[in-house]
Amino acid sequence: MPSGAFVGRVVLITGASSGIGRAAARAYAAQGAHLVLAARREELLREVVREVEGLGAQALAVRCDITQAEDVARLMREAEARFGGLDLLINNAGLGLFGPVEALAEEQLRQVFEVNFFALVRVTQAALPLLRRRPGGQIVNVSSVLGHRGLPLLGGYCAAKAAVNMLTESLRAELAAEGISVLLVSPGFTETEFRQTRLHAQGWRQSPSPLKQMSADEVAAAMVKASRKHRRDTVLTLPGRVMVLANRFVPGLFDQVARRMIDRMVQRKGS
Ligand SMILES: NC(=O)c1ccc[n+]([C@@H]2O[C@H](COP(=O)([O-])OP(=O)(O)OC[C@H]3O[C@@H](n4cnc5c(N)ncnc54)[C@H](OP(=O)(O)O)[C@@H]3O)[C@@H](O)[C@H]2O)c1
Repeated sequence: MPSGAFVGRVVLITGASSGIGRAAARAYAAQGAHLVLAARREELLREVVREVEGLGAQALAVRCDITQAEDVARLMREAEARFGGLDLLINNAGLGLFGPVEALAEEQLRQVFEVNFFALVRVTQAALPLLRRRPGGQIVNVSSVLGHRGLPLLGGYCAAKAAVNMLTESLRAELAAEGISVLLVSPGFTETEFRQTRLHAQGWRQSPSPLKQMSADEVAAAMVKASRKHRRDTVLTLPGRVMVLANRFVPGLFDQVARRMIDRMVQRKGS
């Protein structure tokens, strides 16, 4: 007999092939949910299907590039055909960008906004009709502590996540009357593929961070807890929370801290 806070609920997760999305798939499955798993790497999605089926979940994997409108439309058609509707949408897929604002290529910046922001809007718009078919729907937008405070050499990514934060607040108010809750989960530094796959301004590389990283499973556990409690805003890791508070109350002091971070962040600066 399945048990848990999400028994029989259908959860669609973007970026479910690795990292936080993959861990979230396992965490919701462990709470009784069924999954719709979306990402571009189909082989990895099939592995995740096997993992969550092992936990008793039903799961559908859909190869989907969320920057492509036709892929997103097909994702929703397949989700509808298999499960009839959705209870939760986890907008998790994301892409990073490293380098000073001066060196960011416009194309890279647009790509980062395309994945983190425009595609999130596209997926949300497409999912809403399916969410409205079930009572108590929920949208969880995965932001970052960097969506709350800009840091040097991460300006493009910070800006894209800050846009997600603002959109989340607007959407929350717009959907409240329909009983659809909209949450923001902002992970701190997490051990995933994120730093390998992100874009870099030409000649810029980040040195390995001395900061302790959370595991993707820890982030997923916090996400499921926020989801269960309908917690509107979750900022993860103690340094992440300290950063957000310091920025709110002593922004000038935090500017000085941020300025000093640059030397420690850069590994190599070249052509
Ligand atoms: N790791 C961190 O330190 C950290 C900190 C704060 C916030 N975050 C946020 O957490 C979220 C998950 O990142 P992660 O750390 O788990 O990194 P990750 O392991 O690199 O996962 C990123 C996921 O996004 C998917 N994705 C990327 N572009 C896509 C596209 N065009 N269409 C569909 N899926 C796409 C990838 O799947 P495919 O490549 O298979 O398509 C992958 O499953 C992101 O929103 C990220 O910004 C991460």
